[in-house]
Amino acid sequence: MRCSGGFSMSSLHLRWRGVILAALLCLICQPFAVASDEPTLTKEQIKQFLLTAQVVHSQEAQKGVTHTLRLTLSDGTVTHDASFQPIDIHKPMAQLASGTELHFVDSYKYNIAAYAVAELLGMDDMLPVYVERKCEGTIGSLSWWLPVKMDEGERLKQKLEPPDGEAWNNQMYKIRVLDQLVSDSDPNLTNVLISANWKIWRIDFTRAFRLTNDLNDPNKNLVHCDRQLLEKLKALDANALTEKTKNYLTKAEVKAVMARRDKIVARFQKLIAEKGEKEVLY
Ligand SMILES: Nc1ncnc2c1ncn2[C@@H]1O[C@H](COP(=O)(O)OP(=O)(O)OP(=O)(O)O)[C@@H](O)[C@H]1O
Ligand SMILES: [Mg+2]
Repeated sequence: MRCSGGFSMSSLHLRWRGVILAALLCLICQPFAVASDEPTLTKEQIKQFLLTAQVVHSQEAQKGVTHTLRLTLSDGTVTHDASFQPIDIHKPMAQLASGTELHFVDSYKYNIAAYAVAELLGMDDMLPVYVERKCEGTIGSLSWWLPVKMDEGERLKQKLEPPDGEAWNNQMYKIRVLDQLVSDSDPNLTNVLISANWKIWRIDFTRAFRLTNDLNDPNKNLVHCDRQLLEKLKALDANALTEKTKNYLTKAEVKAVMARRDKIVARFQKLIAEKGEKEVLY
């Protein structure tokens, strides 16, 4: 059930009246469950849940072109939704709106690899937890369904301004660095999700990890950087990346990430030398 967030260890200490009240509230709330009902699980508990909970319901997602499934999972205590993405297309050549792409790949494996990269960069609080799982006979990525109120496309359409522009920009600058590092060729506006408190989430990396060593318009996209993120980027180690993404990234894909990392770091170091640290880092 979605109200399972109330059933933590501390609830054992509730007196009986509190327990009954909580149970009643849970029953009343259930049909209207919203983001605030998010269970308070650790990242490891979420991974375990995604890997082992039973699928109790399945429907097609309302957005996206690849027809992902929105699944409801339950382990008997916690019930929560997850997005299942099984795509794994490899073609020597593909005709896309952006032009012809050679060695085209669109793969669920990159969702898992992007989450691994985000973990190495200390940015995994901006992505849903992604795991690999077999569902209904097919292997794909499964991600924890996020408590979001809209995506970036809807925000722009409705011309909504975040209440704290600086906090918003500081999140976006981090997303831009990640997008450059993983070289996402499809970072469309439905892949940036926004929570009720204006927290930004980045999803869907199935067309990332291109083999290019080049950045995409760094003059526009890389202007400011979070201090800690820059330190993490500098410390990113090819062996650690290889180990953490084995089965999901090829040697060539890891090599390209490291080459882009070098360029991102060099770009910020150049900017710092020109403008001073305070103008670039935050
Ligand atoms: N973890 C999640 N939490 C909340 N919503 C999600 C999550 N994953 C996917 N979605 C929703 O489902 C939609 C489709 O998922 P996703 O972007 O992974 O697939 P897609 O079909 O490849 O999309 P695209 O059209 O960008 O290629 C997203 O745009 C988003 O609205
Ligand atoms: Mg998408």
